[in-house]
Amino acid sequence: MTSSVGIVGASGYGGAELLRLLAGHHEVQVEVVAAHSQAGKPVSSLFPNLPGARCFDAIDVDQLGELDLVFLATPHGPSLELAATLHAGGTKVVDLSGAYRLTAEGFANWYGEVHPHPELAPAVYGMPEFFRKDVAGATLVANPGCYVTTALLGLRPLSPLLVPGTVIIDGKSGTSGAGRAAKDHLHHPHLTANLGAYGAPAHRHTGEIEQWLTNDLDGPGVVDLGAVQFTPHLVPMSRGMQTTSYANLREGVSPQDVQQALVETYADEPFVHVLAPGTFPLTKSVVGSNGCQLSALVDPRTNRVVITSVIDNLGKGAAGQALQNANLMLGLDETLGLSAIGVFP
Ligand SMILES: NC(=O)c1ccc[n+]([C@@H]2O[C@H](COP(=O)([O-])OP(=O)(O)OC[C@H]3O[C@@H](n4cnc5c(N)ncnc54)[C@H](OP(=O)(O)O)[C@@H]3O)[C@@H](O)[C@H]2O)c1
Repeated sequence: MTSSVGIVGASGYGGAELLRLLAGHHEVQVEVVAAHSQAGKPVSSLFPNLPGARCFDAIDVDQLGELDLVFLATPHGPSLELAATLHAGGTKVVDLSGAYRLTAEGFANWYGEVHPHPELAPAVYGMPEFFRKDVAGATLVANPGCYVTTALLGLRPLSPLLVPGTVIIDGKSGTSGAGRAAKDHLHHPHLTANLGAYGAPAHRHTGEIEQWLTNDLDGPGVVDLGAVQFTPHLVPMSRGMQTTSYANLREGVSPQDVQQALVETYADEPFVHVLAPGTFPLTKSVVGSNGCQLSALVDPRTNRVVITSVIDNLGKGAAGQALQNANLMLGLDETLGLSAIGVFP
């Protein structure tokens, strides 16, 4: 029997990517494709890659409450209430926003708002590579931020090997990471052949990285690495994301220890690929997929590890990981609908 699912925020980049992925998924039926200002418009009027006569639905909480699972691809404001209401009614929810990723205290610090449902924060954190069992049993899953996914897949397995207080992360994102709404800095003349940093030193993903780099729900011991320095950049490509992470290694840690920790962590993971040290991953290798490629090298002059990690911000950084989580929550094969490999060149 197929499971019924709905997408709220289907007119946004994350929601439409879910629609694209679910078109190739035979165990779920997409019953609702809800939008806000775009309700009533044909899906194909915004997303020509999704042809057909289907129109965006209006958001109807009662209708959503009848479904097995709802994806919320909405800003954190609407997600805060929608997730709580659906969760209270017993509907499974995967929320792509930052509404339920942090503790209520962390949310107040990083989002500058009092969390209206502190008893639900944080929800189960949707990184199957680290919290698979929790995700499979969860009714509310917080899908991680895109930069956070990229950085943590490289850093978390190495955390016992690193010196606290030395982690620096440089992030670069394609512009679909900023969503579909038109903004001056996303206008073609501003963006093209241009590169710039933004959001440092208090980008919201900093707090999320710190929380989940150090929080051990059920995995092997993860040490507290203290404050993290994170600077994101916008690059003129539509999809794709890279983080380059730097940290000092504890005394006696060898390059072999670093590689072994990564290879062992991801040996059985379908979506994370560890490259040989000195091989640098390319964003195009994973665009259109749920994959992450990463590599680590040790610089003997500085005794630092340098980890480069790439994902598709709309794939493993948003819709792909959300579907991976939903598959687990619905008791399905985790990889269903996610078999595509990257589009290269
Ligand atoms: N883009 C990424 O790479 C990425 C990665 C990870 C996580 N995320 C997170 O995923 C969520 C969606 O991101 P996105 O990039 O897809 O954003 P987006 O392209 O701006 O789309 C936002 C969606 O939310 C809907 N929406 C806006 N205000 C709403 C409201 N008050 N009530 C209900 N629905 C509302 C919009 O509907 P209308 O268009 O019909 O108004 C649209 O469908 C965000 O929380 C974002 O932080 C995004």
